Amino acid sequence: MNELTTELQRRRTFAIISHPDAGKTTLTEKLLLFGGAIHVAGAVKSNKIRKTATSDWMEIEKQRGISVATSVMGFDYEDYKINILDTPGHQDFAEDTYRTLTAVDSVIIVVDIAKGVEAQTRKLMEVCRMRKTPVMIFVNKMDRDGIDPFDLLDELEQELRIHVRPLSWPIEMGIKFKGVYNIYEKKLDLYTPSKQIITESVQFKDLSSPELERYIGEKEAEKLRTDLDLIEGVYPAFDAETYLQGDLAPVFFGSALNNFGVKELLDCFVRIAPSPRPVQAEERMVVPEDPFSGFVFKIHANMDPNHRSCIAFLKICSGRFDRNVNYKHVRFEKMMKFTSATAFMAQKKETVDEAFAGDIIGLPDTGNFKIGDTITAGEILHFKGLPSFSPEMFKYIENADPLKSKQLNKGVDQLMGEGVAQLFINQYTGRKIIGTVGQLQFEVIQYRLLHEYGAQCKWESLNLYKACWIESDSAEALDNFKKRKYQYMAVDKEGRDVFLADSAYVLQMAQQDFKDIRFHFSSEFS
Ligand code: G4P
Repeated sequence: MNELTTELQRRRTFAIISHPDAGKTTLTEKLLLFGGAIHVAGAVKSNKIRKTATSDWMEIEKQRGISVATSVMGFDYEDYKINILDTPGHQDFAEDTYRTLTAVDSVIIVVDIAKGVEAQTRKLMEVCRMRKTPVMIFVNKMDRDGIDPFDLLDELEQELRIHVRPLSWPIEMGIKFKGVYNIYEKKLDLYTPSKQIITESVQFKDLSSPELERYIGEKEAEKLRTDLDLIEGVYPAFDAETYLQGDLAPVFFGSALNNFGVKELLDCFVRIAPSPRPVQAEERMVVPEDPFSGFVFKIHANMDPNHRSCIAFLKICSGRFDRNVNYKHVRFEKMMKFTSATAFMAQKKETVDEAFAGDIIGLPDTGNFKIGDTITAGEILHFKGLPSFSPEMFKYIENADPLKSKQLNKGVDQLMGEGVAQLFINQYTGRKIIGTVGQLQFEVIQYRLLHEYGAQCKWESLNLYKACWIESDSAEALDNFKKRKYQYMAVDKEGRDVFLADSAYVLQMAQQDFKDIRFHFSSEFS
């Protein structure tokens, strides 16, 4: 096997996603501890946006600022190189999370046993489903009382619309929690409260053995046997291929806080999770063994006015990146050298000499990059799959300082390129509309326009329900629709047609009346 293949096969690039508070930060931290990437608990907390700070976005940005180093956490575990991509905890930055999901090869979903599937998880799973990303589920907080595990499995299947297959099974929960039976490795892992490790782990292939009673008690042993029989009867045997196709999610139970079931999750994960997968470019399918290519999926601006700088996060899709080699910036059609690209190793950033498909590197940016930009060894490639989703909130943006209209336009253009929010231009009035997923983004934009571009903006409220990207096989039907709805037609920053529906009813009527038009809630459809 040559060096490139070896490097590719040992890479696992993934994101942990969850509804806030399910335990994403705690799980991330425990994984880093196993990898030896950090040595003390609490080290990852700095990345967490405190819930109390919801209306104070400067505070949030301060915390996000610290988080650049922890946006990607790379470390070695056994023979594997693991890259965990962090996603913002605050839902107003959900768009960031969607884009991060375009850069991972698989996902671990954390679900709280007491809460089951929550709104944010459902939404993020939709993105995974669109991209056929393999997902694994970790049911957390087994040391607390919660939903019956069988009911939870049903809920996961229904709510996340994916088949599930337990690979571990809990023995009781809450204060009675005794541990899990690891179906994948046929082991009994026993739990002692507040010990922070599995206190005893025994190979246990024959569950009919009376030894089981000795370990977990009579009633519990009986129940475990019945549960496992039921699992074998109801769920088909675990098939790694179906998991890799994104159709089946293996489920593990544990407690991240107590470090219980985390290593088992990680051990199974490194074995079955995918190494970098082929990526579809507009021109062709790019396989990881191809010459170097990658795309920018995130741009992080430093909010501190004394250190104005950005980092463009590049996911390497194929080949190998070397420092001091010229690569092509496809949109500029220009060769460029990246001498100070950084790799992310757990909490530090360091200059990178080489990196491989699956890795994320940081490119210092002075306005050269936009989300979706492609860098290659020379080939013209455009990567697909960076969808925009219909925003939840919309406002007109107006210039508040007539002398600074040029600055405002430039600022809006660059901030939208960074993916801070979405811009639509109403085709009838020519007015600019900014769409976001939360109020905080408007405040961020206003602040940054003033401090970085010297421009002042005003917001004017606008009541819209959804922005829908529209298409039709019939040019005439499309034309007719645009004429009939001219007041509500806009284009996005790529010039694509968007229908702005001001209520669910209006949208429903439009869908009924214009059967030849397809309405999409994300900008990418095929
Ligand atoms: P998030 O990143 O998904 O938002 O969640 P995070 O890990 O911060 O966990 C949310 C809360 O749940 C934290 O408590 C954390 O300690 C707790 N937690 C995580 N895993 C478990 C578990 O397995 N069992 C139990 N009982 N609790 C768990 P907090 O009080 O909000 O924060 P902190 O003061 O402990 O930091």
